[in-house]
Amino acid sequence: MKHFAKLELKNLDGRYRANLINSCTGYKSCNLLGTISDEGISNLAIFNSVVHIGSNPALLGFILRPLTVRRDSYSNFKESGFFTVNQVNSAIVRDAHHTSAKYPEDISEFSKTNLTEEFLHDFPAPYVKESVLKIGCSYVNEYNIVENDCLLIIAAIEHLYLPEETLHMDGWVQLDKIDTIATIGLDGYALPKLLHRLAYAQPNDKSQKLESGS
Ligand SMILES: Cc1cc2nc3c(=O)[nH]c(=O)nc-3n(C[C@H](O)[C@H](O)[C@H](O)COP(=O)(O)O)c2cc1C
Repeated sequence: MKHFAKLELKNLDGRYRANLINSCTGYKSCNLLGTISDEGISNLAIFNSVVHIGSNPALLGFILRPLTVRRDSYSNFKESGFFTVNQVNSAIVRDAHHTSAKYPEDISEFSKTNLTEEFLHDFPAPYVKESVLKIGCSYVNEYNIVENDCLLIIAAIEHLYLPEETLHMDGWVQLDKIDTIATIGLDGYALPKLLHRLAYAQPNDKSQKLESGS
């Protein structure tokens, strides 16, 4: 088995280390963050660090790279207070990846891809029409990670849109029905396959499969 000790990781080529460390913790979520500037220019960027923070209140978070270069999504949601999270599916994965390209701030990634912006329920940030599961968020807080100057952004879920057929009676969302993509590192895209759900784990009781009723 291949083994890397801490010092070996430190001495690796930077790109190699980034690939290794970005992928070794497992599959990650894949979302497009939609924002709009005060001047009305939309922005779209791919993020693979969006995570659930808590359900009551409904919060999510994501990691933002250090503010050492221009970060359009960050400037926009700090100005407006709002952004959208649009889940990437297999039909839009190439365009989604392309949004990571560094365009000037006056160029909208919507104009450089086949992705379409849409505004729902007067929410002041653009959603991605081709994304079928989308979340409207309001900025809540940010925490500086002193070890590397990344930011943990915390946001409240204001709106959630998803297809009826994904939603089970108990609130569980079956993401494989809508071809939701997971990422491996910064350039690998996968289509996860559901094995089964398991009943709430009880001590000394072997986990049982849950019958899925929707
Ligand atoms: C698969 C993938 C995942 C990414 N995830 C993140 C992330 O979680 N946080 C981040 O700050 N940048 C992430 N990036 C980089 C941003 O997409 C990229 O910096 C983008 O240009 C930011 O756009 P903005 O300046 O318009 O906000 C990711 C890039 C790729 C290809």
